[in-house]
This record gives sequence, C-alpha cells and structure tokens, in this order.
Amino acid sequence: MNKKLLAGSGLAFTLLFSPLSQAFAAETIGDLRKVDNVAHRGASAYAPENTIAAYDKAVEMKADYIEIDVQRSKDGELVLIHDTTDGSGKVGDFTFEELRSLDAGSWKGAQFASEQIPTFDEILDRYHGKIGILIELKAPELYPGIEESVAEEIKERNLEKPQNEKIIIQSFNHESMEKMNDLVPKVPIGVLTSSRADTTEQALQEFSTYADYFNPSYGIVTKELVNQVHYLDMKIGLWTVRSQKAADFLLDMGVDAIITDYPDYVDPRN
Ligand code: G3P
Ligand code: CA
Repeated sequence: MNKKLLAGSGLAFTLLFSPLSQAFAAETIGDLRKVDNVAHRGASAYAPENTIAAYDKAVEMKADYIEIDVQRSKDGELVLIHDTTDGSGKVGDFTFEELRSLDAGSWKGAQFASEQIPTFDEILDRYHGKIGILIELKAPELYPGIEESVAEEIKERNLEKPQNEKIIIQSFNHESMEKMNDLVPKVPIGVLTSSRADTTEQALQEFSTYADYFNPSYGIVTKELVNQVHYLDMKIGLWTVRSQKAADFLLDMGVDAIITDYPDYVDPRN
C-alpha cells in the first residue's frame, strides 16, 4: 500500500528523469514487464458491458481484472450499470425491481437478451478470488452514503484486508475516494481523470496521500507522467483502449494497467 504523507517533494521531482527513477518505474517478471489487463465493463467488445456475460468472457480471456460501474437504485440496491439497457432515464429514479426487469443485453446481440443488470453483491460473490475487481463508483455525488454501503459489502466478505491488490476502488470524484480510503484504508484507491489539470506536480502529490493508482484517459499520458506517478509510489492505469495501436503505445510507456474493451489486445495469447 503506497498511501503516504509526502515530505521533501521538491527534491523528488528533480530526480524524476534520472536513471534512478527509471529503475523505480520498472516492475518486471524476468524480462517481461507485468501489466494488469483490465476488462473494461467486462470484455465489453465481445459481450454487453456490465453484464455477467461480459464478466464471464473476461474470466475466459484470462484478464487480470474486471472493471465494474457501481450506481444505486431508488430503493438503495447497489447495481452495476454504465448507461446501456433498453430503458432510459436516471438510474437513481428506478427501483431495483424496475431496473432488474430491463434488458441489458439485446442491444449487443439477440443471444444476450436474457442479461439483466447485476447487483454489486452478486458480482463480489461470483468473481472474488476468480479475477480481480476494479470497482468504479460512478457519479457517487448522486448517491449520498454510497461509500458506506460499498465498504459494508466489502467488509461483510472480509475483502477489506490486503488481497494482493485484487480489489481496487476508483472514481472521478476524488473527495469520494478520500472518504473511501478512510472507510477501507487497506483497499487500494484509484483516482480517475481526463483533465491535464490533475497531472500537475501539486495535484499528483495530493492524490498520492490517499491513492494507490492514478488512472487517466490515455490521451493525456506521457512518459514523464508515468515516471512522476511511479516516483510518487503510485501505479498508473489507462483507459479506454479499443485498438491494438493504443495498447502497444501504452505497453511501450511502461504503464501498470491497461483498461480495455479488448483484453486480447493487451495479452495476445487470448
Ligand atoms: O475505468 C475507467 C473508465 O471506466 C472510466 O470511464 O465512462 O467508461 O466509466 P467510463
Ligand atoms: Ca467505468
């Protein structure tokens, strides 16, 4: 776990581009650098996103993690959805029963017509120990108290202990992630962003006081940013990869995780 209070950071940043910092950045297994292959909303190129079909496909493709989007129904059930079903409207305006009755799969193909919106607890039970779970709190500001509910589900299953980093929680809402870090301090926390303003020295230092991962959109990544993040003892995961070219670019950058609809672009064995 890398969360820490920083001191002497001026010196830290003067060393960023030295050979020493390059050594810090490299985590290798033999000659191969280990990159976590994260199936975005499941293997969502091949099955409808955020459904059991997509998560199962990620397991079959030997991804390291599934990424899931957690929201909350009107009556308090934690559900996994980004925005694709045959319904329309805001997730939080529907009861769980209403959400569960939606077809979450047909848009991707008739063979997926039976897919329903999964619940957070059923996915924890089904996949924990089988594949890592990258939990995104999607717009937690819409769901006051969702952090406590997520922490409760995690603790009920004793997953708040160090799990070889196979459970990670991330969000674009950074205050929510600070709160999550207080609730489950041993669970790795990720900061999501697509803003260059979040890549300044000051911003990165602040994130590193509670986060283990800095996860920007891949359009703003540079080798210098990768080195800065590593120097601050955080890991860096990039999203959302939908081409072999993008995957190869990130593999060359020495990133720690690639969040992709196509796990086969990151690990061509699949
Ligand atoms: O895991 C990163 C990525 O999922 C963030 O964007 O919109 O696909 O949830 P989005
Ligand atoms: Ca997501």
